[in-house]
This record gives sequence, structure tokens and C-alpha cells, in this order.
Amino acid sequence: MIKKETLLYDSIRPVIWRDDGLYLLDQRELPMQEVYRHINSTQALYEAIKDMMVRGAPAIGIAAAYGAVIAAKESAEDPGSNFIDGYYQRLDYLLSSRPTAINLFNALEAAKNLTDPIGNALDWAHEWLANDIAANKSIGLSASELLGANTNVLTHCNAGALATGGYGTALGVIRCAYQQGKINRIYAGETRPWNQGARLTLWEFQKDNIPASLIADSAAASLMHKGMIDWVIVGADSICMNGDIANKVGTYSLAVLAKHHGVKFMVAAPMTTIDANAQTGADIIIEQRAADEILPEYYANTQINALNPVFDVTPAELISAIVTEKGVIELPNASKMQQLINNVKH
Ligand code: MRU
Repeated sequence: MIKKETLLYDSIRPVIWRDDGLYLLDQRELPMQEVYRHINSTQALYEAIKDMMVRGAPAIGIAAAYGAVIAAKESAEDPGSNFIDGYYQRLDYLLSSRPTAINLFNALEAAKNLTDPIGNALDWAHEWLANDIAANKSIGLSASELLGANTNVLTHCNAGALATGGYGTALGVIRCAYQQGKINRIYAGETRPWNQGARLTLWEFQKDNIPASLIADSAAASLMHKGMIDWVIVGADSICMNGDIANKVGTYSLAVLAKHHGVKFMVAAPMTTIDANAQTGADIIIEQRAADEILPEYYANTQINALNPVFDVTPAELISAIVTEKGVIELPNASKMQQLINNVKH
């Protein structure tokens, strides 16, 4: 196995802390321009998450960890309320920005448990970020062991460096396998309607000089039918205690297709994506975004509407492996998930 220190293709950082505070790479502008925006209030961070300036579950969690630094400062400077009340209120406000990415909840819960948020939050947030990058590299190394020679992979949405602290989960696996010469071809689904695949995943591959092919989401079935895909590799916004997962809408259809065609299906995600309170996928809140994100303007103010759920749930029985930094769980189920949690506690 290659070593973590020798991993390549690690140049992208979507969340940065500079001397004057938090900066986010504005993902709405990619791939056309690379612009970092200064975020200097909890309100600005709430809006940045809600409007997808920063997106991808682990990256949202990291941004929120730095949000705790901002929340502590704001609360300390707010004469109107007691420090802890004001700090918690700001963290709860950040939590309400997007409902499905459980990393947001897990980061903010951890922020609530800091003993001295004013003194410690910044070091803790730096550590949250560093742990995420390290987790992604561990995931890449162990998950790529599952892939044989000349593997053809399909990924969905963007579970890359942009969606994390860096390196990526699903894209970390692909980067690592590519470095080892195991990849024949990479396909990225467009990921309508927001086009995370076309805009963000391909931008990452282009930046790292890794060849990849774009497909329309609806082309996946015929590619699988022709034997052109060996593994579907995706990230997750939430992993339940029975191994069900939530990820970008369209992931479930890929898992059904993969099962039908005998294609392997991998979910790569850090431990911070586990929702210890969700027993099954039915417990996950699926974000519904505005109809106008998918509805052509022509239909505005008519009797035509649109439904826009932006995540879906893939049941554990369709998943070949969940890979976290704590190891590989093949054919996940409730007892294997519980064992994973127990191993981490001890
Ligand atoms: O709506 P988004 O772009 O935040 O959705 C992101 C995804 O669905 C990712 O696949 C998921 O968060 C995992 S990112 C490592």
C-alpha cells in the first residue's frame, strides 16, 4: 500500500482561515472563476451555506466549525445577551441553513461542547479541518484496495476536495486509485439540476490533469448495460445506523441500476457523516429547494410547478461497501454499523 505522505493531487482548499478570518471559495462561480470570499459574520456564513457558496457535507461542517469562532466573537461583543445563550443561538442559526448534511449538525454539536469557545474554537476548527483531510486520505488508501486493475468508475455530484477540507471522499478514492494506475476511465454524471458533476468534479480533474468523461445523468443505465462501469463511487450527506445513506438526488437510481447490472456501489465518507440518531433512512430530513431552481422561467406564475428534492436515500442493501477512515464495511447493516461505532469509542 502507498503511504499517506506520498499521495498526489491535493491542491484544492475550499475553506481557508487567514489572519483576518474565514474565506470560502465561491463554488457558484466555478469553473469560470476561482474567487475566495471573506465571510465575517454568522449571517454571512448562513447565507453562504444556504446559497451553496460552500457545499458538500464535510465542507459545510468545516465552514460551520470556523463559524463557531465567529459566533463566539459576536456573542462576546453583544451586550444584549449572556455569552453562552448568544453563542448557542448563533450556532442554532447556522444549523438551520441546510437540513441534510449531518456533518453540519455534528460540527455544531461539538462546538457547543467546547469549554472555552473564545479561547479554543479557532484551534479546534483548525483541527476539525486537518482531521477531515487526513480522514479522506485514509479513506482513499483503504478504499482503493477494493478496486482491481483497469477499473472504470462512475461518480455522481461532487464528493471531491471542494466538498471537504481537501482531497475528497469519493474523488479521494479515485485520485488515490489513479495514482496507483488502477483506473481505466472516470465518468462523471452531470448531476442536474445544479451540475456539481459537470462544473465542480470535472474542474477538479482538469486542475489535477486527470482525464475524465462527462455523461448525462440519464446515460448511466446504458453504460452499465454495455459493461462500461465497474464501480459507482459516491459520497454521503448522512449515514444511518443501519447503513442506509443519503446523498445527492440521483444516487439512489444509480444504486438500483448498479444492483441490476452487477456493478459495485461504494459510499466513501468520514465518520463525521454518521448520524448516530438516525436508525434508518426514514429518519433523514431531505432538503427541498425552491421550484425555480429547476422550473424554466416560462412557467413562473402559471399552474405549472416543480418538486425539487435535492437528496435521496439509498438503502443499505444496495451498497457494496461503506468506507470511512476507520475502515471498510462491506455489505453494511445495523450490526456492522454498531460495531464500527463501538470500535471508535474504545
Ligand atoms: O447539494 P450539495 O452540493 O451540497 O450536495 C453534495 C453531495 O451530495 C455530496 O455528494 C455529499 O455532500 C458528499 S461530499 C463529500
